[in-house]
Amino acid sequence: MLYLRMPIEKESPEEVGYDSIRYNLAESSVTDLKFEELNLDLNSLKLEYIAHRGNPLLRKEIVAGHGTLNENSVLVTNGAAGALFIINTALLNKEDHLIVLRPNYSTNIEVPKAIGCSITYIDLKFEEDWRVRVHEIANAVRTNTRLISITTPHNPTGMLMTGEERKLLIALAEQKNIFLLVDETYRDTCFKTSYPYVAAESKKVISVASLSKAYGLPGLRIGWLICQDDLIMERFLAAKEMIYISNSALDEEVSYQFLKQKDSFLKNITSRCQQNFTALQKWLHKENSLECVLPEGGVVCFPRFRNPEKIDTEKFYQELVQNYKTMVGPGHWFAMPDYYFRLGFGWVDYGTFTQGLENISEAIRKSEKV
Ligand SMILES: Cc1ncc(COP(=O)(O)O)c(C=O)c1O
Repeated sequence: MLYLRMPIEKESPEEVGYDSIRYNLAESSVTDLKFEELNLDLNSLKLEYIAHRGNPLLRKEIVAGHGTLNENSVLVTNGAAGALFIINTALLNKEDHLIVLRPNYSTNIEVPKAIGCSITYIDLKFEEDWRVRVHEIANAVRTNTRLISITTPHNPTGMLMTGEERKLLIALAEQKNIFLLVDETYRDTCFKTSYPYVAAESKKVISVASLSKAYGLPGLRIGWLICQDDLIMERFLAAKEMIYISNSALDEEVSYQFLKQKDSFLKNITSRCQQNFTALQKWLHKENSLECVLPEGGVVCFPRFRNPEKIDTEKFYQELVQNYKTMVGPGHWFAMPDYYFRLGFGWVDYGTFTQGLENISEAIRKSEKV
C-alpha cells in the first residue's frame, strides 16, 4: 500500500495547535467533553487484554434501540477511521472496483487509492443540493465491483439520504451481491437520526460510526463497524487482530460507562448545536457573497463563494488565520476548489461561533478583488 498523508489531517486544528485558533469553525464534531464531566468509576478496572470483538456489554449498548441488531454484529474499532481502514483493506484488492461519493471524508477515498483498486467517483453537486444519484451508482457497477461506499449524514455537506434512496441502494447491493458501506459517523449529531443503523436492514450493509462526532469524545478513539454477515465479520476481526488485537481496556470501559448515561448529555448537546444552527442560518441569509445548501444532518455545511472570480481565496484563508485567529476547512481538504469551505457549527459556544461568523464576513470583505 502506498501511504500518503492527507491534507485534512496534516492541516487539522490538532496538528496546527488548538491554542493558535481562537474561533475554531473547522471542527466537525460537537464540543469535546472533559473526563471530569463523565461521572466514571474506574478504580476496579483491570488493565488486561479484553475481548477482541470488544466488550460484549459495550457492543450491546452500541446497538441498543437499533431494530433487531445484537452485539454479535458489532466489532469495536479504533475510531470510525479504524473501521474504514479494516473494511476497505479486507474487501478491496488491486483488481477490484469501488464506487464512492466525492467530496467525502478523505479516508473513504485515500485508503482505496492506497490499495490501488479502480475507483468510480460519484460527484455530488451543489446545484443538485448534493443529492446522491442512485441511478448513476447503478450504472457504474461492473463485474468486479466489490464495494459501494456512501457517507450519510454526509461530510462535508450535511446532506442526508432519503429512506427511498437508501432502500434503492440496498436493493442494488443485494441484487448485485456487493457490499454497501454506509459511513454513519455523523448520525444523531444536532439533528436526531430517525432510523436505526442501516446495517439493520440487510446482510449486505456495513455501518460505521463512533463516539467522536455526536458526543464530543474523539480522543477516546472508539468507533465500530456493524454487519450481520458472520463470515465477513470474521475477516474484519482477523484484520483487527493483525493490527492491534483489541482496543484499550480503559477506552472501552469509559465508552461503556458513557453510553449508559448518554441521554443525559444529548439534550444539552442538541440544544447548543441548534442554537448555533439558527445563528448560522441568519448569517447565511445576510452574507450575500456566499451560497449554501442547508445541512440536514451532522454539524457541518459546505458553503461556496457565489462569485469566486471576485475573491482572492488565498488571501481569504490567510486573513482568517492570521488576523482573525479563525479557522474553517478549505475545499482542498475534500479535493474540491478552495472557493468552497467546510464550516462546523457544533464545536464552539454560541458567542465564539457568532464572532467567528462575523470574522469570516470581515475576511471576505478584505479579500474582494477590486
Ligand atoms: C465521515 C467520517 N467518517 C469517519 C471519520 C473518522 O472519525 P473517528 O474520529 O471516529 O475516527 C470522520 C472524521 O472526520 C468522518 O468525517
